[in-house]
Order: sequence, then structure tokens, then C-alpha cells
Amino acid sequence: MYTPDSMRVFVILPAAGIGTRMSAGSGPSASRPSGPPTPKQFLSIAGIPMLVHCLRAFLAAGRVEAIYVAVRQPEIERVQAQIAEFGLAGGKVHVVEGGNLRQQSVANALAQLVTETGCADDDVVLVHDAARPLIDSATIDRTIDAVAEFGAAIVGLPAVDTIKQVERTAHGAIITATIPREMIVQAQTPQGARCGLLRRAFAEAAADEFEGTDEASLLERAGIPVAVVPGSAKNLKITQPGDLELAEFYLAASK
Ligand code: C5P
Repeated sequence: MYTPDSMRVFVILPAAGIGTRMSAGSGPSASRPSGPPTPKQFLSIAGIPMLVHCLRAFLAAGRVEAIYVAVRQPEIERVQAQIAEFGLAGGKVHVVEGGNLRQQSVANALAQLVTETGCADDDVVLVHDAARPLIDSATIDRTIDAVAEFGAAIVGLPAVDTIKQVERTAHGAIITATIPREMIVQAQTPQGARCGLLRRAFAEAAADEFEGTDEASLLERAGIPVAVVPGSAKNLKITQPGDLELAEFYLAASK
């Protein structure tokens, strides 16, 4: 394990999504008045907002120096209130304004993180979806260690299903190939890299107007090797109705 004392660890939590695939009112702990749907990252699991679950996990991983949460402008106050309500406002958690794409939200947080912390090229920056509330400190630690060793790393879940490549047609999907599943992992988060590498990957993507749905895709196209740390089904991304119940089940089972 390569963790020189001087290496600092920072975290970005993109939480500025709209969560259109979740219906309002879904989830056992999601009772709230009717109105516009609550973005999924603000829904609760076992009575605790998803974002708070994430913050607690990263704060419990002792090496994390600061966390930057990217949220939509109208949500900034709500998030700051949540952070205070759950006793997490110890100066380590910062709220920044996100953007219209996940990549833009992370880019905004990264820019502020660099300005405020003076993040050195060798420091570690992890990015974690706020919509993955069941991340655990052991997986976070393994990801930090892998970034320290390889320069960049993500959490990935080995594929258990047989994976097909398809062509979309007006009548549905037609299979064009079967991809050996030992060649596949499903990308989860955290995803991270040395700060200098992550900044270069984001700068190159912005210069080329490339839009990716995760950090690894930006690192890959910048020619930076990215290691994979084993993930778990428990680290699911809350995406559709039913996922909240599943997350509550996993949470209860892990107690
Ligand atoms: O949309 P998706 O499920 O891929 O979102 C993954 C994470 O990125 C979520 O935590 C979501 O809040 C965040 N996000 C963001 N800014 C956006 C879109 C998504 O921070 N514009």
C-alpha cells in the first residue's frame, strides 16, 4: 500500500441531478407533501437522506480531508441545512453549484476544490455519485489505495449476466455480438485519480467538447490507465422506483 504522509485525499459528490426516472413519492421513507418530485439524491433511506449516508461514509474513511458536494442552485440552502442537522458541518464539507451535466457538476466542484485547497498533482481526488448511498468505508479505502498505486482507479462490478452488443432498429434491438463477460465490469463509483491526472482528463474533454457519463471515460481518452477495484451489488445507484426498498433491505441486512 503506497500512502505517503504528504498525500491528501479529497472527495467530490455530484448531487445536482434531476432524477427523472424516480417517481415522486416512491420509497418507504420518502413520505412528503405533493409537489414537484424531489431529486432522488434527497430522498431518505431508513430516515436519513441519501446524501447524508454518503457524507458519513466518506467522513468515516479517516484519510478524507475535504468533501465538495455539487448541487443545483435552488438546493444549496436545503443541503447546507441537512449538513448542519446531521452534525456534519465541521468544516470538511463544502457545497458548490453543479451544472446541467454530471461532468459539468464534477468540473465545477473540481475547480473550486483546486482553488480552495491548492490540491497538488499527487493528491487523490475521488468522485462518488450521491445517488449511491450504501458505499462503505472499506471500498473507499481500497479505491484510495488503488489510486495511490496506479494513478487512477474505479470501483467496478463483474458482470454476471451474458452481455450482448445490439443494434437499435425501429422495431427493437437486434443482437450483433456476444461480449465475453470476463471482459466486462459495470462501472460504479467512487472513481478517482491523482489530482493532476484528473485535471488533465477534464481539460482535454472540455477542449474536445467530449461528454462522458463517468470520470473513467475521460481518463481513458486521455490515455491514462485506470485500475478496477471490486465493487458490490450493495453499492447500487438509486435510479428507479423499487431501488429505495432494495437499499433499505441491504442496509437492514448489514446491521
Ligand atoms: O443521472 P445519473 O444517475 O447518472 O447521476 C449520477 C450522479 O450524478 C447523481 O448523484 C446525480 O445527482 C449527479 N448529477 C449531477 N449533475 C447533473 C446530473 C447528475 O451532479 N447535472
